Amino acid sequence: MLNIIICGAPGSGKGTQSDLIVEKYTLKHLSTGDLLRKEIAEKSELGKTAESYISQGNLVPDAMIIDILSKHVENQAEDSNGIILDGFPRTVAQAEALEVMMKKLDKEISVLIDLKVDENELIDRLVARGQTSGRTDDNLETIKKRLDVYHCQTEPVNEFYKNLNRYNAINGMGTIDEIFERISTVIDSKR
Ligand code: AP5
Ligand code: MG
Repeated sequence: MLNIIICGAPGSGKGTQSDLIVEKYTLKHLSTGDLLRKEIAEKSELGKTAESYISQGNLVPDAMIIDILSKHVENQAEDSNGIILDGFPRTVAQAEALEVMMKKLDKEISVLIDLKVDENELIDRLVARGQTSGRTDDNLETIKKRLDVYHCQTEPVNEFYKNLNRYNAINGMGTIDEIFERISTVIDSKR
């Protein structure tokens, strides 16, 4: 079993690299951002609540996201070799809840990959994506807010996994293939 967390600031390449990791290692991809955007597209009650947070660049409340994620983790596909969590955990409370969830399932997080990308590059990538993505949070003002929220609420999660000896920083600058090489090297060393 290979259970991976991929994290990093908004625009650091979590989704892009997850697609490559899923294909190479046959994992189930769980992106909390994608799950929330699906709820928004379906105009569910949950989606409506989530949108009010997302469009402002804020995190949705912990209880809400933990509830959504735990259902998906429990229903993990039997034919996969594990899961890759993209965009979760984003607070220390979420990390603690994830530990409890995994213990209950008799599983554990194998490795956390933290993509490190310069702030200017993050902004350039997201502003460029905003021209076609249709995401309400891909505009300069909200991107800056998302980066602030990341530094205040999400970066402390790194300490949590450093203490568990699961933390690996990866240089997230360069071509998509170069970054994937670096990630593969780390994953292969954990198998
Ligand atoms: P989420 O969907 O997770 O968004 P995010 O963290 O802001 O990150 P992005 O998805 O924008 O970027 P990414 O790192 O996946 O990069 P990507 O590969 O797309 O969350 C959205 C919102 O949902 C949050 O703000 C919050 O409100 C809510 N939410 C989600 N999870 C939550 C949680 N756990 N708790 C509470 N709230 C939660 O790449 C970005 C762009 O760069 C793309 O255009 C890509 O093509 C390009 N790119 C990728 N790699 C490269 C490269 N090497 N060189 C050049 N361009 C590249
Ligand atoms: Mg993403």
